Amino acid sequence: MVSTARRNTGVDGVDGGVGLTALLVAAARAIETHRHDSLARDVYAEHFVRAAPACAAWPVRIEDVADGDANPLWGRFARYFGLRTRVLDDFLRHAVQAEGVRQVVLLGAGLDTRAFRLDWPRDCVCYEIDRHGVLAFKHEVLDGVSARPRAARVPIPIDLRDDWVGALLDAGFDTGAPSAWLAEGLLFYLPRAVETYLIDTIDGLSTGGSALAYEVKLERDLLAYRDSPLYTSTKHQIGIDLLDLFDGEPRPDSAGDLAGRGWSTTVHTPFDFTRRHGRGPLPEENDALAGNRWVFADKPRP
Ligand SMILES: C[S@@+](CC[C@H](N)C(=O)[O-])C[C@H]1O[C@@H](n2cnc3c(N)ncnc32)[C@H](O)[C@@H]1O
Repeated sequence: MVSTARRNTGVDGVDGGVGLTALLVAAARAIETHRHDSLARDVYAEHFVRAAPACAAWPVRIEDVADGDANPLWGRFARYFGLRTRVLDDFLRHAVQAEGVRQVVLLGAGLDTRAFRLDWPRDCVCYEIDRHGVLAFKHEVLDGVSARPRAARVPIPIDLRDDWVGALLDAGFDTGAPSAWLAEGLLFYLPRAVETYLIDTIDGLSTGGSALAYEVKLERDLLAYRDSPLYTSTKHQIGIDLLDLFDGEPRPDSAGDLAGRGWSTTVHTPFDFTRRHGRGPLPEENDALAGNRWVFADKPRP
């Protein structure tokens, strides 16, 4: 299969490369959790940050940040992740509560703790796919705080360039039953052929009544906003060069592809949800979030 950019996968765990971005999201969720007006709560997030030497000096509360909400990374960008977490929590809640889905697949799950913190129906299964080193770190931390999953949780330590479909089927995924899929903060790290394969595969594994949510970036975002406060602060404050980690190839039109396969799709900017919830990031000049789109897709029942 096509390779993920080598720079992304040089480090298997959370100490560097794309794995470190999972800790960035965890730190943002910790900050969000401690806000008085939090959009989403994740009590495990700060434990990941505290356990990883790579981010020993990172904040877990906005009060720990000298310039507070004016800080582009720990203010606006962290709030963005908080909003994204809430919106995708709601997507999964809807899939299980209103649509009766009982199997959930988190692609590039990273330090997502939804299996531990959302109210799942008793018979729900949550599959988490990420690379071995990331999941090993996650388990070490969660075991350390005696976290108990609230759904049947099935971690699948595998690279999405390898035979993850075989691993998912071996783990018990049922292609005859509706499923909910999430690719949160993942696709822009993958080459276009891998994204195309992923979407094609999800379609093939999804029966009617299934749902998918994912995040993409419009192509022009990558270079047009290279000097934006979000990218430069993330690089200079914590050493993560997102533009170096993102795949630079032209992006496929996955939403259009899904629509062509009969899925019903809606595409939102994050700002749509900021307005809906009354808090979160709003557009600004030279905005690295300008090209972010959150896509929701439903496969009609026969
Ligand atoms: C920004 S993090 C997002 C994690 C999680 N979805 C969240 O929102 O908290 C990106 C995740 O994608 C995973 N990832 C990137 N490329 C991958 C690949 N080729 N195979 C499996 N996982 C991958 C990384 O290990 C990392 O955990």
